[in-house]
Amino acid sequence: MERTLALDCKGKVGQKVILFGWINTVRDHGKITFYDLRDASGIIQTVTKKRFDVSAEDVVKIEGVVTKRPQKLINPQIATGEIEVKVDSLTIIGKSETLPFPIDDLGLDIEETLRLKYRYLDLRRERLVTNLKLRHQMINFMRQFLTKRGFVEIETPILTKATPEGARDFIVPSRLQPGNFYALPQSPQQYKQLLMVAGFEKYFQIARCFRDEDPRTDRSYGEFSQLDLEMSFVNQEDILQLIEELFAEITEKVFKKKVYKFPFPRISHQEAIAKYQSDKFDLREKKDPNVLAFAFIVNFPLFERTQNQPISPSHHPFTAPKDEDIPQLFKDPMKVRSWQHDLVANGLEIGGGSIRITDPNVQRKIFKILGYRESEIEEKFGHLLNAFIYGVPPHGGIALGLERILMVATGEENTREVTAFPMSSSGQTAVMDAPSKVDEQTLKELKLKKL
Ligand code: AMO
Repeated sequence: MERTLALDCKGKVGQKVILFGWINTVRDHGKITFYDLRDASGIIQTVTKKRFDVSAEDVVKIEGVVTKRPQKLINPQIATGEIEVKVDSLTIIGKSETLPFPIDDLGLDIEETLRLKYRYLDLRRERLVTNLKLRHQMINFMRQFLTKRGFVEIETPILTKATPEGARDFIVPSRLQPGNFYALPQSPQQYKQLLMVAGFEKYFQIARCFRDEDPRTDRSYGEFSQLDLEMSFVNQEDILQLIEELFAEITEKVFKKKVYKFPFPRISHQEAIAKYQSDKFDLREKKDPNVLAFAFIVNFPLFERTQNQPISPSHHPFTAPKDEDIPQLFKDPMKVRSWQHDLVANGLEIGGGSIRITDPNVQRKIFKILGYRESEIEEKFGHLLNAFIYGVPPHGGIALGLERILMVATGEENTREVTAFPMSSSGQTAVMDAPSKVDEQTLKELKLKKL
């Protein structure tokens, strides 16, 4: 006889079944005992007059018969609430110690390091299971939506050269070229532009991005995921319309929520600052959790002043200035507007992108304005400038932060709640103790000296 999943018992009233899973709860009612069994499909109540030496979180095999519950014992809260399994036999397959924390609640009060040390137990929690399943459904929907529209999913390297997105790089020492380092990409930005030069025209990727920057509740430390895409022969409005359609459908079909305004309002950066004092605003009048209020922000300035730099890109250095503002580049760079676009939802910036510079001369000018020396431009970006002399199509794109989208959809307040194995805010990986020391031999091979 084959295994039956908890949820599938619904169609098997009167039949014998074999269940495998975890003991979710033990409820001893004297004459009878209820063992709720949990598997990947859900929870089912099993009932027996016998006593078994079994406790919560043990992995067990239960054989029994599916029966209808008496009317007054039906539990409408769970999908299998109308049935139960009368136990014939129960075998323990994997005994469990008492867990270090409860998993039948939201778990938000448990100390972060403890939750992350035992993340595989934390992930048994219903809230996190639901979040990760939603993440899967969202990614699955994105893949199908874009594939139907002729996009090709292409992976780009993780061990690569720095791509500036405004954060510090993670670097990896090379064994074959001691003293040289790879950088982990802050985004696939330059590769996706090179794919446009290659002629793919419509690219996307569920991409891991690596950024060493101070964490915030909506900013994971270390790594996060983007839906990254790029298109050739398009204007800004083409990109916005594709994203608008994608997110309207995801909101309704995957998140089962409503879109506040469709088409998504397009608001200029200047107007956003004047009206909301921020480029991340919430259009909703009251904070209704079942509504997602998207808006695009356009007409950004090309450059901004930051704490550390008198002039830095408002997005990244590959964003195109508006044509009519190009003559201003050297005269009054802070006045130059760009083809950047951001997507906000319920007060969070969930995406950003732009139409790109494809004229190598304009790209060089931008690097110069940003303070790069000629030799640095060649060393850091020569590959891209060189690619642009071999027939580059006009192109642009956008990247959407998957964790932020899910935060908005679930109401979670931290990217960790929608990530399977997130890092702690101090940069410690979940479960596995990294960063950690490496042995002398490894250091020697890499020709690295101990501090
Ligand atoms: P940008 O740097 O704006 O653009 O990133 C795009 C989106 O990624 C998300 N994001 C993050 N999410 C979680 N944790 C982080 N540390 C984090 N950093 C960014 C945000 C953000 O809007 N290459 C360009 C895109 C392009 O031009 O096409 C880029 O990466 O939701």
